[in-house]
Amino acid sequence: MDFIWLIVATAVAVTLSIIFYTLKLGIGPVPTAQPVRHGVAALLDSAPGLDRKPETVLELGSGWGGMLLWLACRYPQACIIGYERSLIPWFVTLLRIRFSRLSHRVRVERKDFMQAKLPAAGLIYCYLYRDGMRQLADKFEKAPATDSWLISSTFALPGFTPAAEQRCGDLYRTPVYAYRLAS
Ligand SMILES: C[S@@+](CC[C@H](N)C(=O)[O-])C[C@H]1O[C@@H](n2cnc3c(N)ncnc32)[C@H](O)[C@@H]1O
Repeated sequence: MDFIWLIVATAVAVTLSIIFYTLKLGIGPVPTAQPVRHGVAALLDSAPGLDRKPETVLELGSGWGGMLLWLACRYPQACIIGYERSLIPWFVTLLRIRFSRLSHRVRVERKDFMQAKLPAAGLIYCYLYRDGMRQLADKFEKAPATDSWLISSTFALPGFTPAAEQRCGDLYRTPVYAYRLAS
């Protein structure tokens, strides 16, 4: 009986934590859907001038870590860094990295990427929300990323013109944008 209560209490705490961070950050840990991943892959293959071998890849808001590991498989030579504030998704990602045998070049930081000083990266991926993209645009305007590409799923980066765009094969024909960020 005590064991059942322990499970119930854990499930409640996990749910409350996810709700808390969803409200605080303005978005929940919704993963990039499979058809959108295909769209991202098509864009990465086709965007003219996009560096095919970035040394560092960032994911801003890495959720449960699925896309982070996908990026790690796609760029086997790169160092992959995810940023995730929400406690439970961050912890799950930590475990996924540990058990993926990719921990020598993939890591997840429990930081607010809006506040963090981001390292130089050839490629940045994000799937955020409208207001988050506005804040990100402010961040890039104040401290422009040098020689970097931003791939954004679903939402455009206000004030920036995409170098390429892809419509995905899902029900919503989700757009994915590629931006060249250079100071
Ligand atoms: C829609 S999910 C996308 C998850 C993952 N990128 C994917 O595509 O599968 C957005 C994630 O960004 C995280 N997030 C939002 N704002 C953040 C911030 N300022 N710092 C760190 N993480 C943030 C949220 O907690 C959430 O997990």
